[in-house]
This record gives sequence, structure tokens and C-alpha cells, in this order.
Amino acid sequence: VPALDSLDASGRTVLVRADLNVPLHEGEVTDDLRLEASLPTLRTLLDQGARVVLMSHLGRPKGEPSEELRLGPVAERLRDLLGESVTAARDIVGDDARAKVAACEPGQVVLLENLRFDPGETKNDPEFADRLAAFGDAYVNDAFGAAHRAHASVVGVPDRVQPAVAGELMAAELRTLQGLLEDPPGPFIAILGGAKVSDKIGVIENLLDAVDRLLIGGAMCYTFLAAQGHDMAGSKVETDQLDTCRELLARADRAGTELRLPVDVVAAAEFASDADHRTVPVSEIPEGMMGLDIGPETVASYASTIADAQTLLWNGPMGVFEWDAFAAGTEGIARSVAACTGFTVIGGGDSAAAVRQLGLAEQVSHVSTGGGASLEFLEGIDLPGVAALRKGAA
Ligand code: 3PG
Repeated sequence: VPALDSLDASGRTVLVRADLNVPLHEGEVTDDLRLEASLPTLRTLLDQGARVVLMSHLGRPKGEPSEELRLGPVAERLRDLLGESVTAARDIVGDDARAKVAACEPGQVVLLENLRFDPGETKNDPEFADRLAAFGDAYVNDAFGAAHRAHASVVGVPDRVQPAVAGELMAAELRTLQGLLEDPPGPFIAILGGAKVSDKIGVIENLLDAVDRLLIGGAMCYTFLAAQGHDMAGSKVETDQLDTCRELLARADRAGTELRLPVDVVAAAEFASDADHRTVPVSEIPEGMMGLDIGPETVASYASTIADAQTLLWNGPMGVFEWDAFAAGTEGIARSVAACTGFTVIGGGDSAAAVRQLGLAEQVSHVSTGGGASLEFLEGIDLPGVAALRKGAA
């Protein structure tokens, strides 16, 4: 895909799609990862004297404006981080946005209102895309986290505005994740967690041939363990995925890839933060109890495997890490990943949040800003936002 350095931005008004979908609490941004990651592209453009019309979604407002999901607080935080003028428009393509874009000087940023306040964004409505496109004469997509969405600002605008190039964050994400799929230095270890087997089948299938070992945790491990014949008692088992798990286990066998499952779990009497709980071997979960985290023996064994990795990918928490009693598995894995001297990648979402909460992000080679996007990329899917940039260059 065409890169940012192929664009001479001076004198242009550049439409920049970023992923500024950050967590907010009482009107304040609580995690800057995505904002910080968006700065290099913005600085490059502003230094060249471009006017920047910045676009993002925030949350999932379903085509209706909502006070809590306005981008105002994000603009404020961005202004602090960037140290340049960032003005927030009160609408997306309406009078306020038009006036602010018209008044924008070289070296300044206008942030349009939350794109998803208009139903045209997720529908990739041509009229909405036309109106966005009318704001600029160049397009930069730096929203890796939204590249898997075929939305107006992601695919409709680059269809209409040329040149259309990838921003620095987009390029770095694609380079790093592509590197994982192209025979990286071994041993290559992947650790996958998260709630549902069904969400991870594609990625497991695509990684089975690439990795040397696949370590499984999170709620999805209970379906795998059940597929192996263990009695999971009250644990969450996706019964419609048992055959898929058996198939994946057999495929791993054929590929010579070691697919490892927990040997012990923290079992709880109910799904609650203060539930009675105890650590038990996977074959001895007491009747009526459910696994909510991987156990210490599993953490120790996964940790020693992780220590040997030359290349490592981690996606998905090992347990219900929002609750202290069931956070040790995720924390233990986060610490092992941080301590690993190989090339370490965290595939966005909850696992990225976990390493950041523990203050370990600096010790990881690459923390992806995309949750769903990085998973789809690792499944081998051609992300629509990337395909749109390639198409424009062809
Ligand atoms: C994310 O948080 O993964 C991205 O911002 C995409 O958000 P979405 O899943 O609501 O499209």
C-alpha cells in the first residue's frame, strides 16, 4: 500500500481517518494508547503545513447522536498530547464542520464529530462518503483498529479522494503482523485466550502451520478440555463447538504443532467477583463449579515455554481478569510476555489493556492498537481498509 512519505502534504487539506475509539470515564480519556499511536502521522502532516480534517468513530452509537459519545473530550486530550491547535466540530458534515474546516489554517486540526452518529458511516452510504470526501484533497488511513470495517470513512472516502495512503501507525501494524505470518524466527509461540472458541477458530486455523506451540487459556479452553473428554462441571462449554475443537486438535497433531491446554484452573462456585473459589486440576472441577481462570501450575508451565520464544504473539485474557480473584492467570502471562527477550506482539483488545494496566507495555515489542482488526488480519483476511488503499494505487 502507498506510504505516507509518498504524499507531499504541503498546501493540502488532508482527510485523516484515525482510530480514536478510546475508553472514557466521566468525560476523561482513561487510556491514551490509540491517541499516542496516532501522533506521528499527525505531526508529519502538520510539520509539512497541511490542514488536517481528522475523522474517527467512538463506541457504537448506531447512527444516532449521543452526548456521552461526543468526541469533544478526545479532542481536548489530543490537543494536550499534540501541543497544536485541535478544534472539535459539533457535527460531522453539517454547518459547524463546514465552517470549521473552512477556517482551518495550515498546521491546524479539525476533528469531525463521531462518524457513527450518522447511519451513513457503517452503511458506507455514497452520499455520506461524498460529503466527507468534499472536505479534503488527500486521504490518509491511520485507523488500523477500524481497517476491518467496510465503512464510509474507511473504504468510501479513499474511493473518492486521491492520493490515498497508509499512515505511519497503519504501516507499522501491517509490517509487524505480516512479519508474524511470514516465517518469523522460531520458536514461535502463540498464546490465545478470550471467551469464545467461535471467535478464534479462524485465527487458530491460520496460525497452526505458522507457530511451533499454541497455548490456550481463557474461557475457550473449557470447550477444548471438554472435547478431550474432561468433565468441565459448571464451566462455560460451547457444545456446538466441540467437533470444531476436536478437528483443531487433530489438525495441530498433523501439523506437528503442540497445542497445549491448562492442567489446572481456578474454579468458582458462581460467576461473581466474590465467589468462593479454589484451584483444582482440570479433571477435578467439583460439581456445580466453573473455571474462571487458569491455575498456577498452568501459568508456570506456560511461562517456561514463553521464556524460550524468539517470536511471541498473545491475544486474549486467560480468565476474568477484571476480578482480582481470577486475574492471576492473565497477570502471570502478561509478566512472562514482558520478560521474554524474543520479539513480542500483543494483539490488541483486552490483553493490550492488561499489559498497560500492569505498566508492562514498554517491555513488549509491539502492542497492537487493533483488537478485531489484528485478529482478522492474523486470520489471513484482506482488510477492507487496506484493500481500498491498494486499489487506489493500482
Ligand atoms: C476497536 O475498538 O476494536 C475498533 O475501534 C473498532 O471498533 P468496532 O468494533 O466498534 O468497529
